[in-house]
Amino acid sequence: MSISNSQIDRGKIGKTPALSTRSDEAFTDFMSDARNFLLHAQWKNMSERGNKILADKGVVPQHTVEGVAKARGAIADDTYVNTFLRVKRSAQEMYKNRIVDSYLTREAEYLRRMDDAEKRGPGTLTYDKDFIYPDYAKVEIHLQPQGYVGHPLAGMFYDYGTSIFYGGANAEDVFHAKIAKDTPVPTDGKVTRILEIGCGIGQLACELKRLHPNAEVHATDISAPMIRYGHLRATEQKSDVHFAQMPCEDLDFPDKSFDLVVSHILFHEIPLEVIDRTLAEVKRVLRPGGTYVMWDFASTAPGQAPDRGLTGLMDTADNCEPYASTFVSCDVESRLEKLGFHLRSRVPAGVSMGSRVCDKPAT
Ligand SMILES: C[S@@+](CC[C@H](N)C(=O)[O-])C[C@H]1O[C@@H](n2cnc3c(N)ncnc32)[C@H](O)[C@@H]1O
Repeated sequence: MSISNSQIDRGKIGKTPALSTRSDEAFTDFMSDARNFLLHAQWKNMSERGNKILADKGVVPQHTVEGVAKARGAIADDTYVNTFLRVKRSAQEMYKNRIVDSYLTREAEYLRRMDDAEKRGPGTLTYDKDFIYPDYAKVEIHLQPQGYVGHPLAGMFYDYGTSIFYGGANAEDVFHAKIAKDTPVPTDGKVTRILEIGCGIGQLACELKRLHPNAEVHATDISAPMIRYGHLRATEQKSDVHFAQMPCEDLDFPDKSFDLVVSHILFHEIPLEVIDRTLAEVKRVLRPGGTYVMWDFASTAPGQAPDRGLTGLMDTADNCEPYASTFVSCDVESRLEKLGFHLRSRVPAGVSMGSRVCDKPAT
């Protein structure tokens, strides 16, 4: 074996540990570019082609089990669309498995690094070794082997996996930095305490801290492996973020304790009952006049085709997103308004993902 394929510490790529061998890196680089070429570049064509087939056959892409089955039936004879969907699914399985196998060869070293970081600041880390996860949180979401909660290296799998998923476009967390910049603050301008729920590995929380250096930033997630790695990643950036394991539907913070609450791509990954409990918790922990910003998929009214059309529908169906359909069709805007939020802005028409800016009335 050449030195380039030895199990050596190969350093980091940006903020993410490199894979264990050169050939693992070459494989995932290839998959990343192949996805850009075969999937991202074809997305518009394939969406238009698929949507036209559905329209010609009178099939409305509904985000239900029956809706997915109907859409699959309608496109069954189209080689192009089916090849596109097959490549998408297989590519995802191939790169995720390779990442897992690669990092596992150095598992003990990575666990040691996370343990060591627990003794370091500037931020803090709180989690419960005996935490019992609800079943809904144990699914292999996005086809990540053992999901977000089942493996101690889940945070690392997520970090490297999403860097391939984004086709290299999120190097150095530039994507999360832009979201942080595009996250509005309360109308009175006061931002002393910020909370991100469902923070994953803390990419957005660290960027929010960079943008609001005087604010106290808290980042919570149900998964201990995600925040353990997130805390290590934050300490390496010297970012003063406080990580805590906490279900978003049961926030362990006092009433009215945050100026700004943010979530990014959390809500389409939780069941409806958890969505409702979480929205109520967000309202509770926000101070009067505080703001909640929800970054997630656009909503569709029941029975209406979402802007994401066939490719969006099949993405949720083929990407192990068991709760996404319910989220996009649950009319989350009405739920927010029923709770008393004033919606300053909604996800703009024609985009599949965006922000809902929700103000809690000052009185
Ligand atoms: C798609 S990831 C998004 C992570 C991060 N916000 C980002 O921008 O990359 C969804 C996260 O939500 C977390 N999650 C799922 N259910 C949760 C719950 N009930 N409470 C808190 N976090 C949850 C998962 O563990 C995962 O880290």
